[in-house]
Amino acid sequence: MVSFDDILASNSLINDESGLHVAVFVGGTSGIGKFTIKALVATGITVKIYLVGRRSSKERTQAFIEELHAVNPKAEIVWTEAEVSLLADVKRVCEVIKSKESRLDLLVLTAGYAPFGTRKETAEGHEVVQALEYYSRMLFILHLLPLLGASDHARVVSVLGGGLETTYLIDLDDLDLKKPGNFKVYRARFQYLAMNTITLDKLASENPDITFIHSCPGAVNTGNVRRGWDANSVVGSIFSRVVESMNWLIGFSDDESGQRHLFESTSAAFGGRGVPYTGRAGITTTAQSAGGLFLVSNKCDCTPNAKVVAQLREKGQEKVWDHTEKVLGPYL
Ligand SMILES: NC(=O)c1ccc[n+]([C@@H]2O[C@H](COP(=O)([O-])OP(=O)(O)OC[C@H]3O[C@@H](n4cnc5c(N)ncnc54)[C@H](OP(=O)(O)O)[C@@H]3O)[C@@H](O)[C@H]2O)c1
Repeated sequence: MVSFDDILASNSLINDESGLHVAVFVGGTSGIGKFTIKALVATGITVKIYLVGRRSSKERTQAFIEELHAVNPKAEIVWTEAEVSLLADVKRVCEVIKSKESRLDLLVLTAGYAPFGTRKETAEGHEVVQALEYYSRMLFILHLLPLLGASDHARVVSVLGGGLETTYLIDLDDLDLKKPGNFKVYRARFQYLAMNTITLDKLASENPDITFIHSCPGAVNTGNVRRGWDANSVVGSIFSRVVESMNWLIGFSDDESGQRHLFESTSAAFGGRGVPYTGRAGITTTAQSAGGLFLVSNKCDCTPNAKVVAQLREKGQEKVWDHTEKVLGPYL
């Protein structure tokens, strides 16, 4: 475990020479993404942050942006409106960012929740959580790869469940879980996180100069557990209260979660570039110290899950990629 003191010490070294000039946060309007932005801005560095969020969150996010400006007037926060569950809108907003920037140093992807209720689909026909946690995230990465490639410190952080992949809770013959009875919360959760790892592992191997992290955040009391339930679900209400009480007791505080994800976004522990790190270097899913995917636990340790990831790579990578290309192709 990387101690919280070590994390704070590392984050205190972030400065204008750390190479973090332009960042995009998708999901930074609430929860872990928001806490990470707060921690980043509080470092006092000069940074431009594209904060991508949906229209319904605009008003309350303006107050957050004002708070950030007061803390650090050198941080420029660019509110960037998009309905990120819709791939057409992801494409549109990526084109906007690409037209304004020539490089990108950090992309943090946190939109999503556990789909506890019945299956709901976007207007484009994708299950909403799969759109948020997988398709939209991969589309952001694919669109922004050229900008990331132009940075010396490029990093992609997808927050979901890195290290929790299994070979038995992924259905490679029904990647979108459309077969009758196949869509259940535990299955969807593991399916989407494994698909994240499988595709990030491929993209990381093809782009060795970009650091890819799939983070498992642990319990953080963000209200996330309430999102997926059908409206007025009594079970959902009771379950959410129980889980939130547990999260409150044993979970990370908002601040610690934000600092931990800032560490994951900046420390040389992952890939060698970034804020110098004197502890044990993290290793990728292929046991390298750079040029691959880091699966990072809630304690900021690398949990390569090497045996499972190797099996998923062998049995599933081509299938998942072919399917992903078909889905994302029209939006590239
Ligand atoms: N918190 C935990 O304990 C925990 C544990 C394990 C895994 N995770 C996973 O880690 C990721 C980040 O978690 P978190 O707790 O930070 O999440 P969160 O605060 O509940 O939400 C993160 C973001 O998702 C966006 N979002 C949710 N539903 C959306 C929709 N239908 N359309 C567009 N945007 C939507 C939110 O936008 P708005 O602000 O506009 O609502 C917010 O920006 C999620 O994928 C979550 O499932 C969390």
